[in-house]
Amino acid sequence: MGECFGLLGPNGAGKTTTIEILEGLLEPTRGEVEILGRHWGKNDRELREWLGISLQETKLPEKLTVREVLSLFRSFYQKGREPGEVIAQVELTEKEKAWVSKLSGGQRQRLAVACALVGDPKILFLDEPTTGLDPQSRRQLWDIIRQFKQNSGTVLLTTHYMDEAERLCDRVAIIDHGKVIALGSPVEMIATLGGEHVVEFALENTNGQILTPEHLANLASVKSVRKEADSYSLHVQEPHLAIPGLIGYLQETGATLARLTTRHASLEDVFVKLTGRHLREE
Ligand SMILES: Nc1ncnc2c1ncn2[C@@H]1O[C@H](COP(=O)(O)OP(=O)(O)O)[C@@H](O)[C@H]1O
Ligand SMILES: [Mg+2]
Repeated sequence: MGECFGLLGPNGAGKTTTIEILEGLLEPTRGEVEILGRHWGKNDRELREWLGISLQETKLPEKLTVREVLSLFRSFYQKGREPGEVIAQVELTEKEKAWVSKLSGGQRQRLAVACALVGDPKILFLDEPTTGLDPQSRRQLWDIIRQFKQNSGTVLLTTHYMDEAERLCDRVAIIDHGKVIALGSPVEMIATLGGEHVVEFALENTNGQILTPEHLANLASVKSVRKEADSYSLHVQEPHLAIPGLIGYLQETGATLARLTTRHASLEDVFVKLTGRHLREE
């Protein structure tokens, strides 16, 4: 079993820059890249054979067929896989003779990943492979990533979808403003929040004065409190203890609930805790 490592962060965080430095496409201003014991500038040929790359935006020749594109990419490598087999793996067999210009967004993206797979790489670099895709195409790409991992490959994935990172990644690094602000497995990171559950609620009459965050924080099983624009979110360890306490407190203050929901804490919550911002705010 290989590993899927995720680079997570909002737009402009530095994910593409980081991955392109690792891919040998950008020069680092500082530091050195070591991949499988090899270095850019010394072992370039070897590294190019070992890495499979799908860029954030892939421009493929519009008037080549799917098959021709893959044969072209296969010719860049000494060793590699049979193009037809890779086409089947990304479920494009039906489109083998179709021009790139006729493909949908999801099909293009799978073709881009196929180009990265056809050299039979040890490491697969995927920069936002699912951004803008429909749910079905996203799932197809997830399956391709899982298969690669099962065959002992390493995947380095960037994404700003936290749910995707939670599902696919064994470890993630959260990047903000060009710096790694957290590193670990999704489960470990979520555990740092103290409570694995989030209780979100809003009040009927929005005079927020009546609830004090300190009071909310002192309720049973509540680990932390965050006031959002028109709601509150509580990180709690045990919702069955926290919710009765909350209802009791609301009754004391005469506040009426407009809504209350509970959910599992996510990597998005980790990001909010670390930065005070939501991922998509900017
Ligand atoms: N470590 C860094 N220090 C300073 N600027 C950076 C750093 N990483 C990236 N940048 C700059 O930030 C901008 C956005 O970076 P990019 O890698 O495209 O972000 P992302 O892929 O996360 O959206 C680029 O102009 C890039 O040059
Ligand atoms: Mg990017």
